[in-house]
Amino acid sequence: MADKSMDGLNTFTAEVKQDVDTSRKLRVGIIGCGWIADSHIKAYLKQPDVEIVAGADLIPGKAAAFFAKYGVEGVKTDYASHKEMIDDKDLNLDVVSICTYNRQHAEPAIYALDHGINVLLEKPFTVTLDEAVEVIKAEKRSGKVLSIGFQPRLDANMQMIKKIVQSGELGKIYYIQTGGGRRRGIPTPFGTTFIEDKTAGLGALADIGCYSLDMVLNAVGYPKPLTVSGYKSAFFGTDPNYCGYRADKRAEYASKFGVDDFAAAFIRLEGDIILDFRISWAMNMDTPGDTIILGTKGGLRIPSTECWNGTVGGPMKIYHEVAGSQVETEIPVIKMKEGLFDLKIRTFLDACKNGTAAPVPSSQIIYNQAILDGIARSAECGHEVEINVPEI
Ligand SMILES: NC(=O)c1ccc[n+]([C@@H]2O[C@H](COP(=O)([O-])OP(=O)(O)OC[C@H]3O[C@@H](n4cnc5c(N)ncnc54)[C@H](O)[C@@H]3O)[C@@H](O)[C@H]2O)c1
Repeated sequence: MADKSMDGLNTFTAEVKQDVDTSRKLRVGIIGCGWIADSHIKAYLKQPDVEIVAGADLIPGKAAAFFAKYGVEGVKTDYASHKEMIDDKDLNLDVVSICTYNRQHAEPAIYALDHGINVLLEKPFTVTLDEAVEVIKAEKRSGKVLSIGFQPRLDANMQMIKKIVQSGELGKIYYIQTGGGRRRGIPTPFGTTFIEDKTAGLGALADIGCYSLDMVLNAVGYPKPLTVSGYKSAFFGTDPNYCGYRADKRAEYASKFGVDDFAAAFIRLEGDIILDFRISWAMNMDTPGDTIILGTKGGLRIPSTECWNGTVGGPMKIYHEVAGSQVETEIPVIKMKEGLFDLKIRTFLDACKNGTAAPVPSSQIIYNQAILDGIARSAECGHEVEINVPEI
C-alpha cells in the first residue's frame, strides 16, 4: 500500500544561494589537476564571488593545460607541487581545493591549513586514521574551514534518509546493512592512480565504500565505531585477464594493482547498532544488496544505490504498522535542480566567507575514516579489532 501522504515531503531546501555577496571575492587555488578537478573548476566558474588564481600538479605542464582547457586566463601554474603554490605569498589564497590522489590528501591539507588557507579536501578523508587525526590537529591550530568532499550528502534523497531516521519514524535503530558495488568497474579511466598502493592506498573500500558509510552514518547521527571484523580481497584487479581493463593494458594494470577490489565488514557502533557492510569494484554479481535500516517501529529499504553518483537507486520504502496493519510507504524519488558539485562548492565557500561550520565536518568524517582504517587493519590481521578514535 503506497501512502501518498509522503508526497508533501517532495521538496528540497539546500539550494544554491541566489544572493551571493560579490563585494568580497575569494582567491582560489586547485591542487591536483586530474579527473575530479574538472568538477571543481566547473563549479567555481559558476560562482560570482570567486577568482581562480593558481593551480599545481606534480606532472609538469598538466596544470597549465587544465586551465587552458577551460579558457581560464591569468592563473599561475609554475609550481612543482602544492608546497611551492602555498608558499607563494603573492597569491593571497583564501581557499584551496585538494584534488590529489588519496595518499596525497593529508600532506597538502596540513600544509594549507598551517598557512591559514581554508581547505576543501576530496574524499576519502585520508588513507589512515593517523593521517586524519593529524589533519584535524592542523584544522584546530588554524581555525580555518576544512570540509571533506562528500557531495552525495547534499542530495535531497540522501537528506530524506536522514529526515526519516531523525523523525523517529523507524523507532530505535539497531541494524544497518549497506554498501554497493559494480560487477566490472575498477576505475582506470586516466591511468593507475586509483589502483596503485603508492597513490591510492585503499581501493573500493575507500573510493566508494566511504560514500555508503556516510549515507547511513550521517542518517543515524555518526555514532562512534567501537569494533570491526573486516575482510578485503583483490581477485579481479590482479587478474591479467580481467575484462574491465583496456585490452592493451591488462597485464600492466594487473601487475600494478596494489589495493582491494572488494571489502566486507561487521562493525559495532555506539548505541548498540550493528553495521553490516560490503563494497565492490568488481564481483560476480550485479549488486550486493539494497541498503536497509532496521528500527523497532519501522524498516527503511533504500534500493541498491550508486550512492557515489549521489543518489538512491529508486523509490525508498518504509515497512511499518499502521492501525495494526503491516503497510509499506513509498517515498518518491526527488529530482533536484541543482548539481551536487555546485552545491558542494557553494556551501563550502559560504562557510569560508561567513566563518560558519564546514558543510561536511571532519568531526564526523573521522569516524568514517576510523571504520575504513579498522577494516583494513582487521583484514590484515584476520580477526576483529578495536577502533580507538583519539580526542583531538
Ligand atoms: N567526489 C567525487 O565525486 C570524486 C570523484 C572522483 C575522484 N574523487 C577523489 O579525488 C581524488 C583525485 O582523483 P582523480 O581521479 O582526480 O585522480 P587523478 O590521478 O586523475 O588526479 C590527481 C592529480 O593530483 C596530482 N597530484 C598528486 N599529488 C600532488 C601534489 N602534492 N601537488 C600537486 N599535485 C598533485 C597528480 O599528479 C594528478 O594529476 C581522489 O582522492 C578521489 O578519491 C572524488
